[in-house]
Amino acid sequence: MASLSCNLLLSLILFSSLQFYTASSTEFEVGGDNGWTVPSKQHDEIYNSWASKNRLKVNDTVRFKYKIDSVMVVSEEEYQKCQSSHPIFFSNNGDTVFKLDRPGFFYFISGVSSHCERGQKMIVKVLEPAAPPQSQNSTAHSQPKKNGTAELAAFSWTSIFMFVSAVLGIHLVTHSFPLF
Ligand SMILES: *[C@@H]1O[C@H](CO)[C@@H](O)[C@H](O)[C@H]1NC(C)=O
Ligand SMILES: *[C@@H]1O[C@H](CO)[C@@H](O)[C@H](O)[C@H]1NC(C)=O
Repeated sequence: MASLSCNLLLSLILFSSLQFYTASSTEFEVGGDNGWTVPSKQHDEIYNSWASKNRLKVNDTVRFKYKIDSVMVVSEEEYQKCQSSHPIFFSNNGDTVFKLDRPGFFYFISGVSSHCERGQKMIVKVLEPAAPPQSQNSTAHSQPKKNGTAELAAFSWTSIFMFVSAVLGIHLVTHSFPLF
């Protein structure tokens, strides 16, 4: 029984830390170990494929690590042209952290235009924050599936039973072991 309440406590802790996790922001390191640099010819879409693989939300940050280079946030038009005389954001300190403070698109380019032309540029899409009416909708959708929830409940009762019997089984084994 002690194991069961311990298990319950554990799942409670897990649940609350999960909630904490969804409320906090995440830092993403652009380009992974390679950092922010001119990509090789065969991988010139490397940053956009990196960006599309990550689910970025409002208040997440992207971090750029580089040497003798820079990071600019520009308009879509400037992104296409690979140059900007008035970037929205500019940094060249070698370790730039940029906060994605709104949903929608951000256009990053290297401040060195020849680098940008060789693929050192990236479009980031930040997801809209999850709106509460959407979750209400999804609960409304799942309500008619009574059979599904019943099956699910039956399944979890079975797993709890199996868990308890496993714990009891282990106890029996450990208790009977000294007899031999
Ligand atoms: C982002 O951060 C700002 C200030 O730190 C806060 O006011 C805002 O609610 C946050 N937005 C989200 C979606 O977490
Ligand atoms: C789902 O949400 C939309 C608005 O986002 C609303 O118009 C619609 O009535 C909702 N549907 C249900 C089943 O709650």
